[in-house]
Amino acid sequence: MPNKPHIFISLLLLLGSFSLFAANSQQVTLSLQPDKQGDIINKNIYGQFMEHLGRGIYEGIWVGEQSNIPNQDGFRLDVLKALKELQVPLLRWPGGCFADEYHWRDGIGPRAERPKTVNSNWGGVIEDNAFGTHEFFALAELLDAETYVNGNLGTGTPQEMAEWLHYMTSDAPTTLVAERRKNGRDKPWKVDYFAIGNESWGCGGTMRPEYYADLYKHYATFLKSPADNQPIMIASGGTDSQTQWTQTLLEQIPEYWTMRMQAISHHYYTLPTGDWQVKGSATGFGEEQWFSTLKNTLKIEDYIQANLAIMDKLDPQKKVGFYVDEWGTWYDVDEGTNPGFLYQQNTLRDAIVVGLNLHIFHRYAQRIQMTNIAQMINVLQAMILTDGEKMLLTPSYYAFQMHIPFQNAHAIPFNVDHTPLYKLNDQSIPALSASAAIGEDGHTYLSLVNSQAKGEINVVVNNVKQVVGKVLASNKLDAHNTFAQPDAITPQPFSAKVKNGRASIVLPASALVVVDLGKL
Ligand code: AHR
Repeated sequence: MPNKPHIFISLLLLLGSFSLFAANSQQVTLSLQPDKQGDIINKNIYGQFMEHLGRGIYEGIWVGEQSNIPNQDGFRLDVLKALKELQVPLLRWPGGCFADEYHWRDGIGPRAERPKTVNSNWGGVIEDNAFGTHEFFALAELLDAETYVNGNLGTGTPQEMAEWLHYMTSDAPTTLVAERRKNGRDKPWKVDYFAIGNESWGCGGTMRPEYYADLYKHYATFLKSPADNQPIMIASGGTDSQTQWTQTLLEQIPEYWTMRMQAISHHYYTLPTGDWQVKGSATGFGEEQWFSTLKNTLKIEDYIQANLAIMDKLDPQKKVGFYVDEWGTWYDVDEGTNPGFLYQQNTLRDAIVVGLNLHIFHRYAQRIQMTNIAQMINVLQAMILTDGEKMLLTPSYYAFQMHIPFQNAHAIPFNVDHTPLYKLNDQSIPALSASAAIGEDGHTYLSLVNSQAKGEINVVVNNVKQVVGKVLASNKLDAHNTFAQPDAITPQPFSAKVKNGRASIVLPASALVVVDLGKL
């Protein structure tokens, strides 16, 4: 974990204009620099991940046409509506660990005839393959989302992977394309991103990066798709503080078009305790685990910096992206649920985690052009939870929704006169986190997080036209929605008065605020 000066120095470097004073005042002056536009915040930073895991897909979104749950072509209508309102820009599928045991042919053709397999990674349940390639793309089209398909390197052959890509993207008069047409899809789909393997250091094959780099080249050589339908190719990278994968992949995978590697993936999960055996509870935690969760989630910035430093050396032209294609909180599963299903509740703390991570991703938007929170429905840090026909939206859902104006916005730098600290016991983290951008509508948006469990922060902002938006906050650190009380925590209207272009934005404790400051 970086110490406090380290975080501050990185902010200084990144924003180029932070002035820092050792002070503990709870009033901060934030000066925007809208004339100095930074990088575009790719909308795909707001990507979602859906794996064949627990009730993430089955029940979560796919209920089948015969279900009593109202559905459109098998997709449940309530969840579909919520996802449309979330403006999900990108879907990653089919895993995760599942991807490296997924054989795509199991998931095409008449559903009744699809093979039944065992989901060996996630609970050993029977996978009936009702949700396959056609269903995935149908969902993406319904949501108007880009597509990220994760190929099977672990147990599949180059031929299997190449044929899947051909099946999805080709218009040529081949037998495979005829089969796709017979299965109901005439035109090729657009595969926006394609990954060769997942977590190849672990569930994807327990490989060394050198071995993986060779396999990447081997498989990539045979992956062919039409010139106008070439996915961005992603190599499976490291996790947590690892940098060895990034280094080895950049050193060993050449730029030839046949082997093009346009991005390296990286995974980081936030555990309250940092201990995979006893991760910490999703609800009912006290301030210590609130604090440790936020402190742990902020570590991702150090990990990003360490990897980007290597990338800047080996790829100074910034041709290769760094995609955090799995991130989010990982708690002990909810009591009484299948441990293999990774079902956890989602509280205000998760919304704060979303805010902090998005701010970090925005800061490195030049390299981080895509991320996927894990996972969209009923798994880990979910946007949506379901229980049979019931559905609820989580605080994480609302945090993503509040940030919609940041999709494809231009990040803008700002100064803060100092960063107050949130101290607990002998540790501290910044109490305030912020991100600002000019949205596609020309308005400037400001996202603010007060991480402190207690105590407001008054953020004074100059040269603004208005302060109108939403706040997500509660005096209960584990405020969450239940099926009995689905609206226990929802965003509330938020505004502040503007006098001579100056506004005092009073952030309540433990709060996420996103405001529209008008056209500046
Ligand atoms: O998101 C759950 C699992 O976490 C994924 O399948 C795997 O890639 C990671 O270890």
